[in-house]
Formats: sequence, structure tokens, C-alpha cells
Amino acid sequence: MNNKNLMGAVVAVMMLSSMPVFAGWEALPEVAPAPEDNPTTDAKVTLGKMLFMDPRFSSTGTVSCNSCHNVMEGGDDSRTFSMGVHGKTGGRNAPTVWNSAFHSVQFWDGRADLLEDQAKGPVTNPVEMGVTEIEQAMDKVRAIPGYAPYFDEAFGKDSMTVVNAAKAVAAFERTLITPDSPYDKYVKGDKKAMTAQQVSGMETFAATGCTSCHSGAAFNGPKMEFGQGFYTKFPTFADNGYNKKYDLSADKGREEATGKVADAHMFRVPTLRNITDTAPYFHNGSVNDLTEAVSVMAKTQLNKDLSDKEVKDIVAFLGALTGPYPEIVMPRLPATSGYSLVVD
Ligand code: HEC
Ligand code: HEC
Repeated sequence: MNNKNLMGAVVAVMMLSSMPVFAGWEALPEVAPAPEDNPTTDAKVTLGKMLFMDPRFSSTGTVSCNSCHNVMEGGDDSRTFSMGVHGKTGGRNAPTVWNSAFHSVQFWDGRADLLEDQAKGPVTNPVEMGVTEIEQAMDKVRAIPGYAPYFDEAFGKDSMTVVNAAKAVAAFERTLITPDSPYDKYVKGDKKAMTAQQVSGMETFAATGCTSCHSGAAFNGPKMEFGQGFYTKFPTFADNGYNKKYDLSADKGREEATGKVADAHMFRVPTLRNITDTAPYFHNGSVNDLTEAVSVMAKTQLNKDLSDKEVKDIVAFLGALTGPYPEIVMPRLPATSGYSLVVD
């Protein structure tokens, strides 16, 4: 081979090795999408943050949205199963509210279309906030005089309704986004934003096939209309030790929401944004460690056994999807003067 041909071969090999295995890397948008009937405004966000932080609408006066979705941290509660009123626990792990605005359906099984629909659920959930009727919680909001001006500002006069309260909470949640992670910087062209191990992990993540489900800017699958979910079976490959060890097949997933046998064990593909900050993992919070969660995924979803190095590299890459979080200042909540609303 003469020098010219050798050069040609070297260039060809370089091109091959730098050829991306996956071309769909996307940065997170700087603004979260909102439905047409609830554009995000500062006034709604201010009110929504107050309602999100206020525990007085739970039956015991002890549980707020933030109790289980601590936005001063990873947007979850670090527990296997969340603890609601009277120390009661449910059967699913609390997902993070950070970047939940980028999900086209809400909950592990996608049973709510929009953040607006989702926000009403926890209030009347017997093990979460424990109120019998949602209007009872709203009566409490209406009984706190200091809330009225915030509703006026956000929605106009006489606007203290459940629908508007939910809209405000959803508007606040749409500000809980982290578009400036090392990965986002990297994808936008700052090649120094990720470490060599993270870059290697990014390639392994794609080469292993994780991107067949965890694609898109939030790593939760292809972009879809609100109300359309991207679901896959979990575990897809059930004949392995992990399934038994972590009891992955006990929960029927979407079948529990739709009643359809075809939806058995179907789960919405969750975001991997800030995943380093949201252990324990999976719908049943059964895996406490991200390294183990990656091995479980490779086996249960792709029937692959990864080497230690591959797992470590993927975990390093997942670290590049974390933060930075916008600063959140705890709001002052309006008091009731001379009496308490909590009568549990
Ligand atoms: C007692 C704990 C608890 C409280 C209180 C609570 N949540 Fe949750 N939240 C959960 C759990 C558990 C899930 C997952 C349930 C499921 O998927 O079946 C969840 C799911 C969600 C989701 C869906 C996220 C996703 O990725 O699908 C959002 C958004 C959310 N909650 C917001 C709220 C808001 C807003 C409030 C207050 C009105 C609230 N939560 C109160 C525990 C709680
Ligand atoms: C066939 C689709 C599919 C593939 C392929 C896949 N995942 Fe997942 N992933 C899911 C689903 C669905 C869940 C939610 C599981 C549940 O219900 O607990 C999930 C959950 C996760 C979680 C836990 C999320 C949380 O908040 O607890 C991590 C971490 C994860 N996947 C990483 C990976 C990695 C790394 C790969 C490649 C080795 C991968 N996934 C491949 C569908 C997939």
C-alpha cells in the first residue's frame, strides 16, 4: 500500500470509528411545553409554588406535594414507597417532578394525561393527602384570605376553583426543568462539558440499545402529543434472577389503569434526567443503587449482560444528565389569623 492509499485507509477507519451509533441526541428545550388552555405565567407559577408547598390541604395538615416531591432536592422522597397522612404508604415509588413537564402522560402507568389532571389525584388519595372530596381541600384554600389576591392576579376575580388551583400547580411544575446539564452543553457543542468516561458511556448507552426506549431530550422516548404515552413491557425478558429478586412482576402496570390484559406489565418509559438524584429506582423502588439498576435494565429489557466497565461508563454518562437545578426560594404562606384549619 502506498502512502496515499494508507492515508485513505486511515481516514476511512477514522470516519467509521467516529460514526455515531445513534444520531438522535437532543438537548432539553429551555422552556417546557404547556397545553393551549394553560400558558405558563409568572403569576400562576408564584401561586402554584405556594399550593405545592402548603401542607394544610391534607387531612392531617402534615403532607404537601413537596413532602413526597422535595424540589429542594431531587424532586422525590428517597423512599421505596412514599409516606402520606397517618404514616400510610402506597405501592409505588414517587417519581421526580423535575422535568415531569416533558412527559406526555403522567404516572408510572400513564393514567393521567396532563400535569393539570395529575395534580388533583394526590389530594383525595387516601394514603397520600387523605381528603375525602377535592372541594373540601379547595374550601380550605378559600378559607385562607391571603390566597385570594394570588388567584386574582393569576386568573382574575372569583377564580378560586379546583381547576385553577391545578392549573397553577402545573404551571409551577413546568418551571422545574434542568436544561443546562453537562450532557446538554456537550450536545450543543461544548465538547469539554463531559468527561472521557461519560462520552464513552454515552456510546455504550446507545450501542447497548438503551436508546431504543430512552431516546429524546428527556430520555423518555419519542416526542408525543399530550395524552399519548410511550409504554413498554417491564420486564420484557422476565426469565432471569432479577425479576424474582426485585419482585418486578407483582405490579401489573398499565393494566391496573385500563383493565386491559394487553396492558399487563406495560409501563411508561421514564425520564433519565437527574437519575443520579432519585434513588431508589423502578416503579416499586426495589433497587437502591444506580449501578445495579443499569444492570437490571440491560438484562430485563435487552437480555444483555454488561461488563463492569460498560455499566460504570453508562452510570458516568447518566451523571451527565443531572442538574444544575434552578434556585428555588421557599414561599411565605398566608396564615389564618387566630384559628387553625387543621381539624383531623
Ligand atoms: C404521599 C406522597 C405523595 C404526595 C403527597 C404527592 N405525590 Fe405525587 N406522586 C407520588 C407517587 C407515589 C407517584 C407515582 C404514583 C403512580 O405512578 O402510580 C406520584 C406521581 C406524581 C407525578 C407524576 C410524575 C411522573 O413522572 O409520572 C407528579 C407530576 C406528581 N406526583 C405531582 C404531585 C403534586 C402536584 C402533588 C400535590 C398536589 C403530589 N404529587 C403529591 C407520591 C406523592
Ligand atoms: C424496552 C424498553 C427499554 C429499554 C431498552 C431500556 N429501558 Fe430503562 N426503563 C424502561 C421502562 C419501561 C422503565 C420503567 C420501569 C419500571 O416500571 O419500574 C425503565 C426504567 C429505567 C431506569 C429507572 C428509572 C427510575 O426512575 O427509577 C433506569 C436507570 C433505566 N431505565 C436505564 C436504562 C438503561 C441504562 C438502559 C440500557 C442498558 C435501559 N434503561 C434500557 C424501558 C427501557
